[in-house]
Amino acid sequence: MIFDTHAHYNEKAFDTDRDELLTQMEPAGIAGIVNMGATIQDVYDSQELAARYPFVYAAVGVHPDEVGSLDEEKLQLLYELCGREKTVAVGEIGLDYYWDKESHEMQKKWFVRQLQMAKDTGLPVNIHSRDAAQDTFDIMKAEHAGTTGGIIHCFSSSAQMALEYIKLGYYIGVGGVVTFKNARVMKEVVAAVPLENLVTETDCPYLAPAPHRGKRNSSLYIPLVIEAIAQIKGIEPREAEEVLYENALRVYRLK
Ligand code: NI
Repeated sequence: MIFDTHAHYNEKAFDTDRDELLTQMEPAGIAGIVNMGATIQDVYDSQELAARYPFVYAAVGVHPDEVGSLDEEKLQLLYELCGREKTVAVGEIGLDYYWDKESHEMQKKWFVRQLQMAKDTGLPVNIHSRDAAQDTFDIMKAEHAGTTGGIIHCFSSSAQMALEYIKLGYYIGVGGVVTFKNARVMKEVVAAVPLENLVTETDCPYLAPAPHRGKRNSSLYIPLVIEAIAQIKGIEPREAEEVLYENALRVYRLK
């Protein structure tokens, strides 16, 4: 069975056929999906999807590009939503110095506050980090390591840093990028990190694996990601699938 640890099925790209697509998941072996928060509205949409589909779970969190909309009152709301039955993570939270939509100070402040929320509510985290590898790592190490664990989503740093995260108790999220011909570093990361510390994800509708690169992504394409991981590890896809599924259940505490 297959687990998508990071998806955005509430996005516009799925408006025309969301239900039709999601009813295809279980027959295709997709046994679990965690829908992320990015804006506050996404957080509510994720709860709604989770209520509608037994295999969909929700994450609660505000993306670094969106933290300008946060205040104490909204944070309190997020805390309450963390207590809902199908909330399994705080995410996606982190730092994004690529789009740089909010000041670094503002991003760091709300990143730390949301890491604290994860600790307070006992939920693992799902981390977004873009062009901010060292700051993300330093904050994770100082503020969260050794607590509730979680996933470094769409990991894009070095194999060496991936191993540092593993030491702190985190998992590495692997998606469509690992299938790209030019993804040398991602392939190195998958080779270096033990299979037991990897999880599958899509970030759909973004980052579809080859040969669908550039098209709308969905969890139905995860077998292509598993195949790429299995090939790097020199094992059968079936074996990789089983381990990766167990890893996702473990990190989200669904066992
Ligand atoms: Ni995402």
